[in-house]
Amino acid sequence: MEVDVLIIGSGAAGLTAALQLAATRKVAVLAKGSISDGATAWAQGGIAAVLEPGDNFANHIEDTMVAGAGLNNRATVEFVVENAPLAIERLAKLGVPFNLEGNDWHLTREGGHSHRRIVHVDDATGWAVQQALEAAARAHPNISLVPDMVAVDLILGRHQERFSTSGRIHGVYALNRKTGRVETYTARATILASGGAGRTYLYSTAPRGATGDGIAMAWRAGCRVSNMEFMQFHPTCLYNLEVKNFLITEAVRGEGGILKNPKTGHRYMPDYDDRAELAPRDIVARANDAEIKRDGLDYVHLDISHKPPEFVKAHFPNIYEKLMGLGIDITREPIPVVPAQHYTCGGVIVDLDGRTDAPGLYAAGEVTQSGLHGANRLASNSLLECFVFGDACARHIDANWDRLPPPPPIRQWDESRVTDSDEEVVIAQCWREIRQFMWNFVGIVRTTKRLERAQHRIDLLRHEVEDYYSHFRVTPDLIELRNLVEVAALIIRSALARHESRGLHFTLDFPKMADEARDTILLP
Ligand code: FAD
Ligand code: SIN
Repeated sequence: MEVDVLIIGSGAAGLTAALQLAATRKVAVLAKGSISDGATAWAQGGIAAVLEPGDNFANHIEDTMVAGAGLNNRATVEFVVENAPLAIERLAKLGVPFNLEGNDWHLTREGGHSHRRIVHVDDATGWAVQQALEAAARAHPNISLVPDMVAVDLILGRHQERFSTSGRIHGVYALNRKTGRVETYTARATILASGGAGRTYLYSTAPRGATGDGIAMAWRAGCRVSNMEFMQFHPTCLYNLEVKNFLITEAVRGEGGILKNPKTGHRYMPDYDDRAELAPRDIVARANDAEIKRDGLDYVHLDISHKPPEFVKAHFPNIYEKLMGLGIDITREPIPVVPAQHYTCGGVIVDLDGRTDAPGLYAAGEVTQSGLHGANRLASNSLLECFVFGDACARHIDANWDRLPPPPPIRQWDESRVTDSDEEVVIAQCWREIRQFMWNFVGIVRTTKRLERAQHRIDLLRHEVEDYYSHFRVTPDLIELRNLVEVAALIIRSALARHESRGLHFTLDFPKMADEARDTILLP
């Protein structure tokens, strides 16, 4: 199938780009499951923007740089922060029912922000945003939404009918889940908006599909990848043996929630940082981890029960309902929480137009390393990045349309040398192994020895998975496993290369921060 622009991913970044492009171009948006399956629909807290009287861009820029431990690219931070109010206006026009206070936005507070800055829809902002973007995209005649289409690899010159060594991207090969066939999607421009890689870790707040497919595909296509060691762990994921990845939004702490050691009842965050519960996430996650490990706990307590019940229910209606269903009344008792992987700060390198290293390939959202987050993402800056960069990619493509060559004839996917898998247990086993050792050896607190252990294991698994991939017909699980292995290897390599502790990368072997802030850039 040939379209003008192909977008891999139907979350905030992909749909923003699609809606901007659709005025002039025919666009296809692929999703590997249902259209709403990405992390966007799961976002709780909200979107950061300077909207409070007394706040200004300089404050938001400074807070972002402080959270990012100085590794951020200032030009990117300025670009995103200054475009934030406009992005919120666009969403409001699409019908996102942001909470209001009189005629003004209701703004909540989150860790690392010096002002109230978070626009939100109760405690389920992402769902409201996803619904509004999706409704607008479905209504547009120039946008085709294509669910159940799993991108396998980007199409390069070597896939042309007349072989070429060109690194230009012409689209993707994608597996249709319904037919089991690999289809060819070609376009003048391709945008990767495929989200993060949280599922490389055993415990993660991210959805099942966050397997870093876009990062792995871009890497295989020759793009540089950067800062993969900076995996963000959210301090407060619900501890529950049945519900394994339910987030308790940072806004609970923003509205007065406090963290306590369940054994002693002690409020410990002031011992770790002057900003207490509202310190940046890396600090709170490490504090929770330290309390849990020191006292042999299963979890710590997050308590908002000192606030009036009506206040709690009004601010966090979804969390209240969900936890009531699990037998926890948050207006009367504390919530058991643990840290869990939450966000992938590193990714495919892009410039301010969303361009990657490969001609014809753009990227936006969690799949990228745009320079916004540095060594640690400031809360609620991530949806914002999707809106600003989704829009930037679209504008650049449109402005440069005449310079983008139409795709050449492409060879069909070749299955002549593979057969159906005879031992799918291999996939499940490798998947489990990776997530387990990434959690244990490449987690919140690292050492060189643990990283080296992880490196040995990932080298072994990479060979096994490549061997398996070359013999058997692709399935969604195999595609994801191949990407998961690739991305885990990039994370470990990046972590081993960083000989300092900065932001989210904390290693006992190099506990100090180096004088100079430098990105980790991996060349394919
Ligand atoms: P996603 O929304 O994750 O979408 C990825 C898309 O790519 C999906 O459509 C998926 O199907 C598709 N895809 C992936 N691989 C393939 C493939 N191989 N083939 C085809 N399609 C593919 N950020 C904030 O700023 N504020 C918050 O309050 C907030 N809360 C969060 C709460 C939770 C529980 C989580 C997990 C994250 C939260 N974040 C928050 C982070 C934020 O939600 C994400 O960073 C953001 O939504 C990412 O959007 P995206 O468009 O880049 O990708
Ligand atoms: C949250 O609501 O705590 C998540 C916010 C974010 O990830 O930015």
